[in-house]
Amino acid sequence: MNLSDLKTLYEARQSCRSFEKREVDRALLEEVMETALLAPSACNLQPWKLVCATGETKQKLFDCMTVKGMNINRFAENAPALIAVCSNADEKNKKRHVMEFVPFDLGGLTSHLVLAAEAAGLSTCILGWRDEPKIRECLSLPEDVSIPVLVAIGYKTEGYETRKKARRVPTESIEYR
Ligand SMILES: Cc1cc2nc3c(=O)[nH]c(=O)nc-3n(C[C@H](O)[C@H](O)[C@H](O)COP(=O)(O)O)c2cc1C
Repeated sequence: MNLSDLKTLYEARQSCRSFEKREVDRALLEEVMETALLAPSACNLQPWKLVCATGETKQKLFDCMTVKGMNINRFAENAPALIAVCSNADEKNKKRHVMEFVPFDLGGLTSHLVLAAEAAGLSTCILGWRDEPKIRECLSLPEDVSIPVLVAIGYKTEGYETRKKARRVPTESIEYR
């Protein structure tokens, strides 16, 4: 793969807000998650866990994603799986200088995850609107686990168009000194 191929993948990856109600093969989900786990992390601590909810658990989890009286994230109801991107702060990882990078590491993992999914023919949406305590309860996760985002994953509906990327012009985001 060269940079041009990679750019094509980056351009194709977009937040999908229209999923088919079609199951994704467990082996494919597993391959995508395993690929994402090749992401780098501070001191290679890999301070994370991916909790993939399907079926009834996914449906219960979906109820933690929505905001009462608002339409936000309703599209995730059709996605066959929701992956909770979680910290895994076990004792040996609790060194302050490394722990401060946990949110950074989880962000990197999430990027790897959505791009791996795209390469596997799946669509995703990162979901930051959530009720973290409710999600912890639903997935039986301990109190000290943080869940910064969930990722809805599945097949996009037929005809769902690839949008042109809305991004600042690169000169606003890149500087040379
Ligand atoms: C940390 C984070 C949280 C997000 N939360 C939501 C969300 O709750 N609902 C949603 O529809 N999109 C959410 N998004 C998607 C962003 O809106 C989207 O990535 C951005 O507008 C760029 O569009 P693109 O992903 O299609 O390139 C989130 C993205 C990130 C990185």
